[in-house]
Amino acid sequence: MSVPKKLFIKTYGCQMNVYDSERMAESLSGAGYETTDDAASADMIMLNTCHIREKAAEKVYSELGRLKVHKENNPNLKIAVAGCVAQAEGEEIVRRQPAVDLVVGPQSYHRLPEMEALIRQGKRALDTDFPEEDKFEKLPNRPKAARGPTAFLTVQEGCDKFCAFCVVPYTRGAEVSRPVDRILTEARDLVERGVREITLLGQNVNAYHGIGPDGDTTLDKLIWALNDVDGLERIRFTTSHPNDMTDALIAAHGECEKLMPYLHLPVQSGSDKILKRMNRNHTAESYLKVIERIRAARPDILLSGDFIVGFPEETEADFEATMELVRQVRYGQAYSFKYSSRPGTPAAERPLVDVAEANERLQRLQALLSTQQYAIQDEMVGRDVSVLFEREGRMEGQMVGKSEYLHAVHVTAPNAKRGDIARVRIINTERNSLGGKLLD
Ligand code: 5AD
Ligand code: SF4
Repeated sequence: MSVPKKLFIKTYGCQMNVYDSERMAESLSGAGYETTDDAASADMIMLNTCHIREKAAEKVYSELGRLKVHKENNPNLKIAVAGCVAQAEGEEIVRRQPAVDLVVGPQSYHRLPEMEALIRQGKRALDTDFPEEDKFEKLPNRPKAARGPTAFLTVQEGCDKFCAFCVVPYTRGAEVSRPVDRILTEARDLVERGVREITLLGQNVNAYHGIGPDGDTTLDKLIWALNDVDGLERIRFTTSHPNDMTDALIAAHGECEKLMPYLHLPVQSGSDKILKRMNRNHTAESYLKVIERIRAARPDILLSGDFIVGFPEETEADFEATMELVRQVRYGQAYSFKYSSRPGTPAAERPLVDVAEANERLQRLQALLSTQQYAIQDEMVGRDVSVLFEREGRMEGQMVGKSEYLHAVHVTAPNAKRGDIARVRIINTERNSLGGKLLD
């Protein structure tokens, strides 16, 4: 056996990139690589990049500038760029940073082993095509190593919605759903390796339409099929679009035992004028109606959202409409961003809102969202939840895990191990976590 080569992967951006990085590492394990946390000793450094907001490409170029010095100490080192910046920039990357050996877009990861062979011969490898074949089918099977109790599983990729601010339809391409049997096989495999909670991933996950044994299969049916997988205890999914929250999916939130009471449902703005300019195809009122239906099905559900402030033509009144929507919904968790113009998107050409104004609105929105988050955390005190332990805590005998509502919970549980699910009473809250005590 030859000595394994070392692969260092740095992942930026969303959970789908986290999943992709894992799959790329597995794919390259076939080419003799194992992963390392030490960039300096690596034979290949890979940046898995994100293009969603501000100066993403510039950050990648400056990181590449720092990394290329490792090549001086280690002439065998190869540098690779994957992900959405790779897709958006393509050849431009090697033009601007000649130290880069390999550029691979998100739809071409199955070609990594061949590409790796090419660069070992001193050539460059570049692939940012959108091939017809399913990259996941071409990726080699995972090695059967044990792994932690939670995992991501990509079921759908790409987006056909074309929100006016968003690069995803261009970097990840059109919506594609994986077949049901492949997903079930992967889920069972994960469970065999110790996984108890699976988060189904897709840019537009609730638009999932995969081929199943009974034909076209929607996300609710996929969730029900996963509900029957023995040993799998928890199911989550992200990210959803309000227009694809079907009655059947909402009903699953009330009825499906393993589906957790947490939903990330971005709205972006509370102003109908801005929603229209964003090409969201829904209104504030229709969003609130969806929330109402979800809460009727599952009253204790914790809601999370995404917001953009300072979108072109957003006035103070439009922003106030967003604040009002937030007050009506009450989010347990949220992500808010200042609008950042993305080249190639429809909104890119429009005049920007004054930066100082946009910053100030972002601060006001974040203050409101934090107040809601902490109020909801405070309300958890005294309630009983179930916690899936993910790791040991910093204190002796302490375990850390997540509740059904995705709150991080610290518990003194000296006899517990990773992967255990325990009943816990919440006794206090910290800034970004809760404290609890074991009930059993
Ligand atoms: N500017 C700011 N935020 C953006 N998002 C997507 N594109 C942009 C952009 N150009 C945010 C949206 C989306 C989340 C993943 O990132 O809120 O839901
Ligand atoms: Fe981007 Fe809109 Fe598609 Fe979400 S739904 S990935 S924000 S285009």
